[in-house]
Amino acid sequence: MDPVTKTPAIQEVDGFFIPKMFSPDAFRDTLKYRPRDDDVFIVTYPKCGTTWVQHIVMSIFKKGEPIANFLEFQRSTPFLEMTGPKAAEFMLRPGAIKTHLPFHLQPYSPKAKFIYVARNPKDCCVSFFHHMKMFPGYEFQDGCFDDFFELFINGFVDFGDYFDHLLSWYEHRNDPNVLFITYEEIKADTEASVMKMAGFLGKEYVTMLENDPSIMKNILYYTSIEYMKKNTNKHLADFLMAPPDLLLADPNLPDGLRYFITHVKNLNVPPPKESTFIRKGIVGDWKNYLSPEQSERLAKKFKEKTKGTDIPKLWPD
Ligand code: A3P
Repeated sequence: MDPVTKTPAIQEVDGFFIPKMFSPDAFRDTLKYRPRDDDVFIVTYPKCGTTWVQHIVMSIFKKGEPIANFLEFQRSTPFLEMTGPKAAEFMLRPGAIKTHLPFHLQPYSPKAKFIYVARNPKDCCVSFFHHMKMFPGYEFQDGCFDDFFELFINGFVDFGDYFDHLLSWYEHRNDPNVLFITYEEIKADTEASVMKMAGFLGKEYVTMLENDPSIMKNILYYTSIEYMKKNTNKHLADFLMAPPDLLLADPNLPDGLRYFITHVKNLNVPPPKESTFIRKGIVGDWKNYLSPEQSERLAKKFKEKTKGTDIPKLWPD
């Protein structure tokens, strides 16, 4: 299957798939970014809980305060491949840089910290399908799940093959500067996961949480699915529905974001009526989407790709 004819929305840059809305130059520059010693990265394959963990980490840094708006979100936890490296150089700190890069492409330093969030591939696939339908830039508004499933299982989606991505980071799960955590683990015990992330970020954050229990309470409240569905979706909707020319008039707009907005503007497609980026936030939604045959095919690929590792134990379903 030819990925480019199968979906118009991805482009191949130096052998790697990124969305067409992303500037190839910003992407190439991103790969050359040299991490600072105090950089914290949140790394995921798309749709594995990135935004949730960005909000958790930021509210740890902000002592239980929530992120106020989309601009603050972009400035303190920039998406590197989309915005380009300048966004990291000028970001608000403490902050956390988001990437969707497999280990071999990730700007790396042994002193920087990396939180890698993984998720059951079947739920990731369903979430990715909704993501493609929501963003007009993908030109997939009328796409159906069966078509998307073929793209996903063949790795013809942004950031390539799910399994290659996961395997590349799984190998580093015990590195001292890597925290490997799953979406399901955070769901099952969010408080313990927040503590785990705090411990990874620095002892001072654990002390802060132990000394003032109201901070944990606030973090759990502001990063709950209910709160984020309402507020984070509103922040994103404000951005998606803003007149592009107004956004482009901002002289501080990172180059990559400027490219993104211009690309979508030129497509001349209507913006979504609402943001459903923060969607269901549950474990096991795949049961509502995958046919028994699709479930079996994905499980077979999962088994083949992860042979010889403990990964299947993470998601026995
Ligand atoms: P669903 O589409 O399955 O609901 P990413 O940020 O990597 O794109 O991941 C998006 C997924 O994380 C979506 O999954 C979204 O609903 C879920 N998510 C976001 N915030 C969440 C929260 N506070 N609690 C649980 N899941 C959350």
